[in-house]
Amino acid sequence: MAAMSDSHPDNSASSSIDRDELLSLARAVAAESAQYASRHRPQGRVEVHSTKSSATDVVTHLDRECEDLIRGRILDARPDDGFIGEEGEPTPHSSGVTWIVDPIDGTVNFVYGLPDSAVSIAASLHGRIEIGVVVNISTGEEYFAQRGGGSFYANQHGGVRLKSEGTDQLSHALIGTGFHYTLGIREHQAQAVARLLSHVRDIRRTGSAALDLCRLAHSKLDGYVEQGLKPWDLAAGSLIAEEAGIILAGLGVEPDERLVIAAPGALAEEFFALVRSLGF
Ligand code: IPD
Ligand code: CA
Repeated sequence: MAAMSDSHPDNSASSSIDRDELLSLARAVAAESAQYASRHRPQGRVEVHSTKSSATDVVTHLDRECEDLIRGRILDARPDDGFIGEEGEPTPHSSGVTWIVDPIDGTVNFVYGLPDSAVSIAASLHGRIEIGVVVNISTGEEYFAQRGGGSFYANQHGGVRLKSEGTDQLSHALIGTGFHYTLGIREHQAQAVARLLSHVRDIRRTGSAALDLCRLAHSKLDGYVEQGLKPWDLAAGSLIAEEAGIILAGLGVEPDERLVIAAPGALAEEFFALVRSLGF
């Protein structure tokens, strides 16, 4: 995902920004917030605090608390940066850097106690994503990337650099997807996914777009398609996927809210053509 909304030409101020420092901050804050969410999650089902775009689009107190924690830590360290989070009002930048944050991606899984929910933190520099970190809240597994520096997976036993090794055969491809919270769009997606099913090995709907994109980087999925993703669902995971060799696109060259499609290079052309022909 090359560009977000505030793209400006690069300038001398941005070249003085230390990307290693941004990555260290993102990793530290994502780990802290994932631990906070895991420690404070009550037993059983988590109470829904409110709903957003539809009755199925839920928010818990912990979504809000985690976003406040992340916003506080980042803007304390870098007060001139901008901040776009799923749950709060955007803060503009004067530094060139904007953070794009989903405090809990996979909120419905988090509510039910299913294992796929994650903190997702990205930093963009003049509109281009440069840093991405995704931490699984229930396992502590971490994915992270810096543009041009590769993407990595780490757990309590150590870490590895990621290089996608997905299949080049559509009929053997395991495809991740997700569904919009708005009923009409959801019905449309369900029909397109039903058409896709007969062309591929199978479909997975894990409930966290950020983790789906990381799993593509980790060769645990072979392709991904979704409509309706917001910038905070997509920002960190898209860089992690890209840095592992995954090709991403949308209706045009760039993925966006209308369509995100992603696959390893050997499968991308065929998969993208199929998805576009199926009415996504
Ligand atoms: C959702 C998840 C889900 C995707 C939805 C997203 P949320 O984010 O990423 O996998 O299918 O489109 O909205 O609401 O759990 O933060
Ligand atoms: Ca999300």
